[in-house]
Amino acid sequence: MKKILVTGGLGYIGSHTVVELQSAGYDVVIIDNLENSSQEVKNRISNISGHPIELVVGDINDEQIMNNLFKDHNFYGVIHFAAYKAVGESVEYPVKYYHNNITGLIGLLKAMDNHGVKNLIFSSSCTVYGEAEDLPVTENTPIKSAESPYGTTKIIGEQIIQDYAKHKNLKTVLLRYFNPVAAHPSAEIGELPNGIPSNLVPYITQTAAGIREQLVVYGDDYNTSDGTCVRDYIHVVDLAKAHVKAMAFADSMTDQVEVFNVGTGHGSTVLEVVKAFEKQCNIKLNYKIGPRRDGDVEQIFADTQKINNILNWQAEYDINDMMYHAWMWQKNSSKK
Ligand code: NAD
Ligand code: WQD
Repeated sequence: MKKILVTGGLGYIGSHTVVELQSAGYDVVIIDNLENSSQEVKNRISNISGHPIELVVGDINDEQIMNNLFKDHNFYGVIHFAAYKAVGESVEYPVKYYHNNITGLIGLLKAMDNHGVKNLIFSSSCTVYGEAEDLPVTENTPIKSAESPYGTTKIIGEQIIQDYAKHKNLKTVLLRYFNPVAAHPSAEIGELPNGIPSNLVPYITQTAAGIREQLVVYGDDYNTSDGTCVRDYIHVVDLAKAHVKAMAFADSMTDQVEVFNVGTGHGSTVLEVVKAFEKQCNIKLNYKIGPRRDGDVEQIFADTQKINNILNWQAEYDINDMMYHAWMWQKNSSKK
């Protein structure tokens, strides 16, 4: 059985990916410092997959923990999720973000090198494209200077990997996620936002659950079909499956680095998302139109031809499924 190290594997995208890795026959070891997750997620993953998981509670910045981890296991590859991800917080605490997202990555690369592990999947983001001039964005769309320190950590992270992979002959897949949303259909695992959510879908579900009073739609004067911003929302289970395909592909790569967009290829406006939620969940959502949010791009959605053709992956869930699963998760996690 091939063994995969999943950093940040108890987090939102990591937990769904561990389920899919186990279902595909991989053995998984997670390292997570529980900063944005809970140990309970380990049991929930095992409930879904029916397989045990080995968990190391620790920080990827701890050199000794990382070296012991690599010494104790013969890893076939690594999927690296462990990072901070709150755009607004990164503006307030840039050094915290550079430390965890960049220094953490460098520590991981060193440990991989020390122990001869060659296959790496890295969580990147469509944020690297900024406000793209041509849509949909392909993997060759130029990278813009980032709007936030968080975005900068993804651009620099990609660059470090590009340089390092060539030098050390790594096989690395950079996955640029569009907007991951929803939760596992079992409603056992999902996103656990810290405090007031800044992302749209958790804000919608928390408003519907009565935790928030009202959703504010940030601007309806954009140059889009209904004036609200367009994003490519991707179901987290589809995204998780892309990691399994990427891991199978990594070893056979001829180049050191491949980049893939991971989206559905379809854009939805904010109001379309709200309407899909209302229809699928049979709930009238309390919302109002407010001013634009600083730093928001007007519209972005992915060209997915590369990942469709090379990884033979495509999204299976649509926006209606996403809203329904997000709501099932909200109801289940509110109960817990
Ligand atoms: P998350 O916060 O839910 O998961 C990250 C996990 O990593 C958490 O469990 C946290 O406890 C752990 N962690 C953080 N720093 C650590 C450290 N130093 N050592 C050990 N564990 C640590 O985030 P997520 O949404 O699952 O995102 C995963 C990755 O995907 C991140 O790199 C993020 O930047 C990237 N990404 C996320 C989104 C999104 O919208 N969620 C979009 C694009 C890219
Ligand atoms: C989506 C749309 C908002 C909240 C962020 C990061 C990006 C990536 C994914 C990590 C926008 C609108 C939102 C609300 C609203 N993460 N909105 N009212 O900004 O596209 O991307 O998450 O890499 O880097 O920036 O996602 O969910 O915040 O917003 O109207 O209360 O919903 O204006 O148009 P975003 P989001």
